Amino acid sequence: MDDITALILDDHDAFRRGFARLDDARGEEQLTAVWDALALHLEIHAEAEERILYPHLLKRSPSEETKEETDDAIRDHNKIRDAIEAAGRAKVGSDEWWKAVWAARTENSEHLAEEEDEVLPDFRRHADMRLRIDLGAQWLTFYGEHPSGKGLTFRDKDPQRYIQEHSKE
Ligand SMILES: [Fe+2]
Ligand SMILES: [Fe+2]
Repeated sequence: MDDITALILDDHDAFRRGFARLDDARGEEQLTAVWDALALHLEIHAEAEERILYPHLLKRSPSEETKEETDDAIRDHNKIRDAIEAAGRAKVGSDEWWKAVWAARTENSEHLAEEEDEVLPDFRRHADMRLRIDLGAQWLTFYGEHPSGKGLTFRDKDPQRYIQEHSKE
């Protein structure tokens, strides 16, 4: 089985490749094909982190640092969700659409760096391999149970309420 941090990095790489693929996509059909798959993957990934990774971090060590990292992550996920929603309202390939897609891209790049340089290193320092593999199994089960996001709703979350709810469990 896989370590959850490796699975998260796989997704992050897929996001980088997806945005790069958009640079090469031509015409509405190609842009839609690349963007729809990428946007859905971004949504499912954020939801998986909010159900598996961040609740674990808050439960394991409800320190100020963890709360700050979680607050940042939820805010970033919200910004990415908002940009995806804005792209959904615009005509594919229009200036408005590119503006929204670019907001998703830049917010995502910034967010991946924070997770990869702060959240995941901190997690690896405290989690043994068995825990990482247990959480990896939960991650894969979550993806398996929600093929193409089936059964999930992608909504912005209030960071403070989220932190409160998951710190007291
Ligand atoms: Fe992530
Ligand atoms: Fe994230």
